Amino acid sequence: MAAFQTLDDLADGQRVLVRLDLNSPVEDGAVQDNRRFERHAKTVRELADRGFETVLMAHQGRPGRDTFVSLEQHADILSGHIGGDVDFVADTFGEDALAAIDDLDGGDVLLLENTRMCDEELPEEDPEVKAETEFVQTLAPEFDAYVNDAYSAAHRSHASLVGFPLVLPAYAGRVMETEYEANTAIAQKEFDGQVTMAVGGTKATDVIDVMDHLGDTVDDFLLGGIAGELFLRADGAPVGFDLDPDLDLYDSQWEDNHELIEQILEENREKITLATDMAYADEDGDRTEMDVADIDEKTVSFMDVGTDTAEHYADVVRDSEAVFVKGALGVFEEERFSVGTVSVLEAIAETDCFSVVGGGDTSRAIEMYGMSEDDFGHVSIAGGAYIRALTGASLIGVEVLQRE
Ligand code: 3PG
Ligand code: MG
Repeated sequence: MAAFQTLDDLADGQRVLVRLDLNSPVEDGAVQDNRRFERHAKTVRELADRGFETVLMAHQGRPGRDTFVSLEQHADILSGHIGGDVDFVADTFGEDALAAIDDLDGGDVLLLENTRMCDEELPEEDPEVKAETEFVQTLAPEFDAYVNDAYSAAHRSHASLVGFPLVLPAYAGRVMETEYEANTAIAQKEFDGQVTMAVGGTKATDVIDVMDHLGDTVDDFLLGGIAGELFLRADGAPVGFDLDPDLDLYDSQWEDNHELIEQILEENREKITLATDMAYADEDGDRTEMDVADIDEKTVSFMDVGTDTAEHYADVVRDSEAVFVKGALGVFEEERFSVGTVSVLEAIAETDCFSVVGGGDTSRAIEMYGMSEDDFGHVSIAGGAYIRALTGASLIGVEVLQRE
C-alpha cells in the first residue's frame, strides 16, 4: 500500500483547500460541539501557524433532514477550539466564495458553506467523474494543494473528498493520519496476546459485518446492545423481540440478519461471549437484573448487560493485549444502564493494552463517566468509516490520496 503524503511533505507559503468532517448532532437548530472540532482544530492550527492561506470545506447533514444546516455555527465552534478567527462565507464555489478566497492573507482561515448544498457533491460517482464537476473545476485552480483530514467521511465518493485529489497535489491531514493508522491496526498489526472486541450498539448489521470479517483475528467477542440480544435469541433464549410493535428495534433486524447470526454462532461459538444476565427498569424505574437462564418469556425491555456479565467482560479485557470497542453494551446515557459500557471502558483505561474505541456515540461515555481519553490508545471520531476499516474494506477517500 502506497503511503500518502502528509503535512510534513507540504511546502510552506501556499494556499490550501482542506476537507474536514465537522458533521455534528444538531438540537433544535443548535450545532453541538464535539470531538470532531477539537481534533480538526489541531490540523487547522498547524496550517495557520505555518502561514498557509487555509480554506476549509465540510458537510453537515443531508438535504431533507433537520440536521442539514449552514456551517455558520461550525465556524464559531471551531474558532473557539483553535483560539483564533475562522471566517465564514455562505457560499460553496460561487462569486462570494471566490472573492473571500481572494481576500485571504497568510495565516487566515476561511470556512466555506456546507458542501452538500452543492448539487454535484453527493451523488456517489467515480473520482474521475467528481474531478470533472463544475464545483471541483471552479475551486481547484484557486489552490496550490488539497488536504483531506476527513477520515470519518472517507467512505463516501463525494466531490469534496475524491474529486480534488485528482486535480491538485493531495495530502493527508493530522486527523486522517492518526485515524488511518489506528483503525487499520486490527487488519495490519500482529498481536502476540489475546485480541478482544466488545460489540454492541443499535445497528445489528454493523456488528455482524465486523464479526463476520474478523472471526480469524479476534479471539473473543463480548456482546451487548441490540445485537447481543439478537445473538441470544439465535442461541435459544426467549429475548431479542420487540415488546412494543411501534418500536421496531429487534424484529426487522432479526428478519434481515438471523441467518448470518446463526451461521456466525455455529462457526465461531467458542469465540463469542453472550450476556448471562441483563438489566431492566422495574416499575419504580430502578435498575433490576435477571439471569438469562431464568427468562421464560420476555416481558421487559433490557437496557444493559447485567453486573455479572459486566464483571466478566472487564476481566476478559484485563487479560487482553488488544481491545477494540464498537458500540455500547447498554443505554449508557442513563447512568443506571451504563454498567456494561463503563466496566469495559474502565478496564481498558486501567490496563496497558493496545486499544481503539469507536462507533459513533460510544466514545461519549468516556467523558460522561469521568474517564480520560489519554488512557485509551485511540478514540475514533469515525462511525461508518470505522466499521468499514474493521471489516478490511478500503475507503475511497483514502485510496485516492494513496494514488501515485
Ligand atoms: C459521519 O458523520 O459519519 C460522516 O460525516 C458521514 O456522514 P454521512 O453518513 O451523512 O455521509
Ligand atoms: Mg490504557
